[in-house]
Amino acid sequence: MKRLQAEHLIGIRDLPTSDIEIIMEWAAHFKEIINRPIKKVPTLRDITIANVFFENSTRTRLSFELAQKRLSADVVNFSAASSSVKKGETLIDTVNNILAMKVDMVVIRHSEPGAARFLSEHVKSKVINAGDGTHEHPTQALLDAFSLQERLGDLVGKKIAIVGDITHSRVAISNIHCLIKLGAKVKVCGPTTLIPKYIKSMGVEVSHDLQETLVWCDAVNMLRIQLERQTDAHFPSLRDYALRFQLNKERLSTLNKELVILHPGPINRGVEITTEVADSEQSVILDQVENGVAVRMAVIFLLAQQMHRN
Ligand code: CP
Repeated sequence: MKRLQAEHLIGIRDLPTSDIEIIMEWAAHFKEIINRPIKKVPTLRDITIANVFFENSTRTRLSFELAQKRLSADVVNFSAASSSVKKGETLIDTVNNILAMKVDMVVIRHSEPGAARFLSEHVKSKVINAGDGTHEHPTQALLDAFSLQERLGDLVGKKIAIVGDITHSRVAISNIHCLIKLGAKVKVCGPTTLIPKYIKSMGVEVSHDLQETLVWCDAVNMLRIQLERQTDAHFPSLRDYALRFQLNKERLSTLNKELVILHPGPINRGVEITTEVADSEQSVILDQVENGVAVRMAVIFLLAQQMHRN
């Protein structure tokens, strides 16, 4: 059996391409399993996993928990909002207390970039990053790439656009690393104020014109405007943003091709994407959610195999 080189899943930047390919192979296998009448395998009966969420989540948290349960792992859930973090406990103390209860793997979401790596350097368990501030969201990028491969096949040479708030988006950063490692061409599109200057050094093209970007690409990943991470006004109003960067039927109808449309969620319906487009045949938004469980099963399973080996 092919094993991962990475000891933890902290980000896509440092993940070998061969590891991404192994995860994709296992995700396809687990997708087949979760579509069977009996969706569960007994593989990880001896593993306990803690989902430690210091930041809000719907999709990622539910998806990780379902993935763990489908693999028959024992699961404990921790939410900072209802914990002793509110009494001043540090991240390391919180997690070491959880690990003292014989937890083998920690899935962490935190608002601070680097929190997952910091944790992996200080605790004796596997660590999976479920999103650390504006840094990385590796399982989102893996499930996005898996969903794209389902529609487009091999991504070598495929043109993928990422539209919206690139500056505050860990999804964008992880997607860029992942897509480039898989051989795709990537263009980011959005207002000048929401595209960081360094982004070109990651090997992507930049555009501030949505229509030009849609003509160029095979698939478009529409990002949410992250009002909670923005400290300044980056555009005059949501209405102005929607006028320039909203994916809607009128824009799509001028193209003589069917784009694949992604969105990591949660969606601001009527801002970056209209309801009509989000719920259309071209949209793979709910496929992304389904694939998220399969991809996370693959990541958890492969990291757990290393524990069995060591
Ligand atoms: N895509 C994503 O990370 O969604 P949640 O914040 O709901 O987990």
